[in-house]
Amino acid sequence: MGLFGFFSTKPKNRLALDLSKVKVDMHSHLIPGIDDGAQNMEETIAMLAKFEALGFSKIITTPHIKHPTYPNSSADILDGLIEVRKQMKLAGINLELEAAAEYYFDETLLEKIKNKDLLTLGDNYVLVEFSFIHPPSFEDLLFDGLIKAGYKPIVAHFERYNYFLGSIKKAAEWRKRGVNIQVNLLSLTGHYGMEIKKQAEMLIDACEFDFIGTDCHRIDHLKILEENLTLPYLEKLNNYMTKNRLL
Ligand SMILES: [Fe+2]
Repeated sequence: MGLFGFFSTKPKNRLALDLSKVKVDMHSHLIPGIDDGAQNMEETIAMLAKFEALGFSKIITTPHIKHPTYPNSSADILDGLIEVRKQMKLAGINLELEAAAEYYFDETLLEKIKNKDLLTLGDNYVLVEFSFIHPPSFEDLLFDGLIKAGYKPIVAHFERYNYFLGSIKKAAEWRKRGVNIQVNLLSLTGHYGMEIKKQAEMLIDACEFDFIGTDCHRIDHLKILEENLTLPYLEKLNNYMTKNRLL
């Protein structure tokens, strides 16, 4: 062995999170121009190509439904899905593509539950999000309403709600009553800040989560994920059986 060979450090044979085993991404914003995600078809197609290159085989995209900011109807989303599928095929991207929604928690959502007007993921899962600023005050009503109507609630990116930072007790409490918890993969990269990263790590260490998602709004999000797949907490996810594959 030469001198330089002796002193040089071999690149470590690191593992990485295997996204082909996660298979399904269940949280993203890919229908062009209807929320704060992809703004045109070009961006949508670039993101879908990246999803395919990363190893995913199925994408369930989840545009925001939030009044009055994103007043999307189920029909708006499903019409958008048809167009994206068409363009995706033309671009030669080989992914299964479905659409549901990320429902903002307010009284309009309770109305939608009553009318059974909800777009679902897999076996009747419904993705819901709360305000980032004010803790939810009548979430019991929401969860009961969803469960009684035969839906399975998923709380989007639990780790991003500032008012819960430092404690994952609520996640554990909610999971006991049949509510699913979703973690954003980007949270584990530090993309949203160190406190949110820590909160996501706590959920993983305690195994108080069910789904993982990219919550991809633009291609940069997928690039950040790609660059960080060897982060220990992302690698760690290989050891967990998330519910993504059920979708
Ligand atoms: Fe989202």
